[in-house]
Amino acid sequence: MSSVRPETRVLADPASVGRAAADFILDCTGRALHAGGWFTIALSGGATPRTLYALLASSPWKESFPFNTMHFFWADERCVPPDHAESNFKLASDAFLSHVPVQPSQIHRIHGEEGPEAAAEAYEKELALFFGAALPRFDLVLLGVGEDGHTASLFPGTRELSEKNHTVLPVHLPDARRSRVTLTLPVLNQATQVLFLATGTAKAAILHDIIAEGNPNQCPAGLVRPEHGSLLWMIDNAAASRLPGPRGEAAT
Ligand code: 6PG
Repeated sequence: MSSVRPETRVLADPASVGRAAADFILDCTGRALHAGGWFTIALSGGATPRTLYALLASSPWKESFPFNTMHFFWADERCVPPDHAESNFKLASDAFLSHVPVQPSQIHRIHGEEGPEAAAEAYEKELALFFGAALPRFDLVLLGVGEDGHTASLFPGTRELSEKNHTVLPVHLPDARRSRVTLTLPVLNQATQVLFLATGTAKAAILHDIIAEGNPNQCPAGLVRPEHGSLLWMIDNAAASRLPGPRGEAAT
């Protein structure tokens, strides 16, 4: 496991988390471009990144990002068509990507509509081709956390958590939730930067377990610890309400 210490930044409210995250991602693009090459980012679904996506498509961020150097991937996807209300691609596309100058060749979505196995296999191949390496190294992976501690589509107590070889896996959930496709822990932990966003009191208990208690239940989000990269939790006061330390302020 990584020896890198996760950082936690507490902000006043979800809007402040969105603004701080937009600024942070902009800084990350600057650092990556300084090193030369593309900026690769894996996006997530869920309700939390909506605010961020809308901000990225608005001023001043829209005019500030080096969009022509960016390639967009996804950390996970549900097995639905790209125009489905539950599609993570649709979420990012509607709120963000369709409003900024990026070419279709810069968008690497997971083809969930092809079914979990075929979509996972195709996405794994696409990653290997793009990154030219068996284990892709994303400049930034954006993640959320569920109240049960899941992240991307890695759920507590599942065999996907022990995957060592594949970068992408199909996920069959034992209940009525959609089949999914997810990046695996080896690829998440290879990232240069992982940014978790979490807001609201419903996340307070799981953040207490992961951040304050050191993840005693080995929940998936707490297993994301980049081996040679950085890990930042950006959370609001409500999500931080069971953590020790000062409360956060509004980001402008
Ligand atoms: C998804 C995700 C998932 C999400 C968490 C948190 O597709 O739903 O990628 O891992 O990040 O479930 O979701 P909320 O932001 O809705 O709390």
